[in-house]
Amino acid sequence: MQVSMTVNGQQRTDEVEPRMLLAHHLRDNLGLTATNIGCDSTSCGACTVIVDGLTVKSCTVLALQAEGSEVTTLEGLSTDGELHPVQAAFRSEHGLQCGFCTSGMVMAAVGVLADNPNPTDREVREGLEGNLCRCTGYHNIVQAVLKAAESGPAAGQVPSSKQEVSA
Ligand code: FES
Ligand code: FES
Repeated sequence: MQVSMTVNGQQRTDEVEPRMLLAHHLRDNLGLTATNIGCDSTSCGACTVIVDGLTVKSCTVLALQAEGSEVTTLEGLSTDGELHPVQAAFRSEHGLQCGFCTSGMVMAAVGVLADNPNPTDREVREGLEGNLCRCTGYHNIVQAVLKAAESGPAAGQVPSSKQEVSA
């Protein structure tokens, strides 16, 4: 079946099997491999992307369910080679180790900051509870999100589409 969606600001129409998950469509058909798959069962958050302004675990929805939607992956966050404020904060605060969870963590953090531009430490932890990290102990991830919040509203926005984002 055909499915059409806007991905990182680009219109895409592709053939997919009806059972294909959005995560596999992004990775296997569109080559957007920043979206990782850790569990395939809605547990780890590594596959988090933004669909029509909402953070979504892309292993949880079919590609066909994103028909007509605006999808942003990690690849769509930076603008003209400049890191999104959340990406820059993860780098400066060293909010990663192996990096496997990082793309999902960054996308989820954008959603957290969209809903709450000035979160407390606890609110960041609660906002990211659907994203698991096996390496960091979360401390630097939380510090990165708090650092990104200092950048203002841009930290909770998706540059490619200017769409509002909610967690
Ligand atoms: S791969 Fe989607 S939640 Fe783990
Ligand atoms: S940095 Fe390794 S899983 Fe999070």
